[in-house]
Amino acid sequence: MHVPNLLIIDRIKTGTVIAGLKYYGQILFNILKMKISNSKNSSNKSNDKSDSQSTIDNFHLLYESNHKQTYDNTYWMGIRSMKCPLDLWIYQEILFKTRPDIIIETGTNEGGTSLYLANICDLMNNGEIITIDISSPKDKPEHERVHYIHGDATSVKTIEKIYQVIDKMNIKTDAKIMVILDDEHSEDHVFQEMEIYGKIVTPGNYLIVEDTSMGGHPVWPELDSGPMEAVERYMKINHNFEIDSNQEKFLLTFNPKGYLKKIK
Ligand SMILES: C[S@@+](CC[C@H](N)C(=O)[O-])C[C@H]1O[C@@H](n2cnc3c(N)ncnc32)[C@H](O)[C@@H]1O
Repeated sequence: MHVPNLLIIDRIKTGTVIAGLKYYGQILFNILKMKISNSKNSSNKSNDKSDSQSTIDNFHLLYESNHKQTYDNTYWMGIRSMKCPLDLWIYQEILFKTRPDIIIETGTNEGGTSLYLANICDLMNNGEIITIDISSPKDKPEHERVHYIHGDATSVKTIEKIYQVIDKMNIKTDAKIMVILDDEHSEDHVFQEMEIYGKIVTPGNYLIVEDTSMGGHPVWPELDSGPMEAVERYMKINHNFEIDSNQEKFLLTFNPKGYLKKIK
């Protein structure tokens, strides 16, 4: 904004001091008005932000309370995948960008997500899925890229089995590995898994901790602590990962602070 000089001597000479004062007074008044309204706007903006967050949280809570209609009723190629579709799209973008050779998933459940990952890998002509569940792997979708392991995701036996499967894959030794943790959601279990699988993820790839929204973030406030608290605990002692909040761009995610990128 261009403000002319007051030119007081010229105003005295031309007898326009009062008009000048009126003019500059008006400008000063407008500047003050704008400043006040800007600060009001910015305080409105911060209200907007918290309004937006509460809108997102309310939608998340609604999504959760209608789980029979939402995530219990989400299918990939006819097989149930207990994910938010917005997160599945993020998975697709991560897979395309990072092109992992091996994806390890803890918590197979019905296998819809395993099949989804395998189908994305089909499109890229690269990638194998190792999926682990404590319950029986019977009646799961068959796909040449999907390898089922039956066992507790944190047991030594299971980790040995994972390496046996990888050995048989005849994959290059510098294989890129990504991990998705989606089995038991207690803080201690997820923390233990992060300690085990965080070492297996290769730099540049992701460790995705599912369901960090539990424990009141905003769903499942009944849970004292869960995956979010495990992430917070892990991040305090581990500096090889950073939280990639860009992956929360669709606003609703089951995994706030749960997309961890290995940086070294
Ligand atoms: C939330 S479901 C997994 C959903 C699945 N990832 C999907 O996207 O559709 C959790 C699964 O973890 C399995 N599970 C629970 N505790 C486990 C453990 N300690 N080790 C391996 N699997 C476990 C359960 O049997 C169940 O199938």
